Amino acid sequence: MTYENDARIINDDIFDLINQCFDEEKSSRNNESRLNFFDTYNNYFVLTDDGSYSINSKEINHKVETLHTSTGAISESFEKFIKPMKFNYDADIAILDICAGIGYNTSAAIADFMKNGNDSKLTVDMVEISKATLACGLLVPSPIKEHDITKKAIEEELIRQDYATLSLETCEIPENININVYIEDARQTVQKLKDNSYDAIFLDPFSQNMAPELFSVEFFREFRRVIKYDGIIATYTSSAPVRAGFIEADFYIGQGPIFGRKQGGTLASPNPLMLDTSLPKNDEIRIALSDVGIPFRDINLNSTSEHILDERTEERHEARHNTKISSAVKTPIFLACEMDDEKLKRRVERNLAKMNIPSTTSPEAEYIVECETDYSKKQDIENNSRTRILEMEKRLKKVKTGNYGDT
Ligand SMILES: C[S@@+](CC[C@H](N)C(=O)[O-])C[C@H]1O[C@@H](n2cnc3c(N)ncnc32)[C@H](O)[C@@H]1O
Repeated sequence: MTYENDARIINDDIFDLINQCFDEEKSSRNNESRLNFFDTYNNYFVLTDDGSYSINSKEINHKVETLHTSTGAISESFEKFIKPMKFNYDADIAILDICAGIGYNTSAAIADFMKNGNDSKLTVDMVEISKATLACGLLVPSPIKEHDITKKAIEEELIRQDYATLSLETCEIPENININVYIEDARQTVQKLKDNSYDAIFLDPFSQNMAPELFSVEFFREFRRVIKYDGIIATYTSSAPVRAGFIEADFYIGQGPIFGRKQGGTLASPNPLMLDTSLPKNDEIRIALSDVGIPFRDINLNSTSEHILDERTEERHEARHNTKISSAVKTPIFLACEMDDEKLKRRVERNLAKMNIPSTTSPEAEYIVECETDYSKKQDIENNSRTRILEMEKRLKKVKTGNYGDT
């Protein structure tokens, strides 16, 4: 068996060991390599605070990340991906699990459905680029019993694709649960999915610097096409370019739960009423007005991560002092503020002058951030993060082009 086309996403050593394990299973046709794997190689697994296991990624763009937070891998699935959803279990539910990994998010969704679902059906479409990572899901101890259902679905697909050989998972998939496993680049998968299909999308890639291709405007436009009007996308990141990408792809956005990080993640929906909490005020201002709010772009959904990062750096450079205020010294958050620190004030006002804003307390400054005086944490149809961000962007453009004062 060769793995030349397989994605080498996880740590190289465990990647090789997992492939070897399933090769042995194929040649020997006995279950020992799989059954003994965890005990033999448990030093490759990372124990997280809630007792569930994670694994390390390979080095990507000079960084290694763990697949899950050290605060608790399976707890993260419930806190960040299940709790913010407003599933109506009286109807059938469809979930798209992007970057399914070892299957914890899908398992948490199954657990929630089995606890609350009535006569309805659950469909989960899991998308994961790496066979070895999915196979790793078969080798870790299940943190919750519903992970055994996910394991069964993963095993069936790995057997179908001639990676696994034996059917060792004994758990039955309940009749009202349907799990599809796509093993490919999620950018390819989304283009094949039907419009208006999903109640929820779990977006759980590595961080934006490792995987900007899974946070691009074009990728999010596909989400906009396949998600239902009341559907919700959940992702763990609070990054400005990711949030800006959702807005450009025609989503409303809100703050997600805080778990294992200082800041809350991000929720996005076509319907603002599905999102309770606004972004923090300064996050809105930075996304709207500064060059950190330039999103990732991947026009044909096939660029490399390096290319996407380089293009964004270039676009930020062009936007700075032109369509966006420089993000240096967090300049935009001082608009409409009195400043005591004279040195900082000089730097801030030097940046503002390049955008035709005479000072932090000038009428121009007040005009741009005026809508933030109505800021309320609770979002509604008229007053929400998206609307305020777009309004501030529009006003900045007017000030820069000298049209300030026109209504
Ligand atoms: C943070 S982990 C996800 C953990 C996972 N949600 C779970 O419950 O175990 C990120 C995953 O994204 C996968 N991945 C990376 N690039 C991908 C791509 N282009 N398409 C689909 N999956 C990808 C990696 O193989 C890795 O398993």
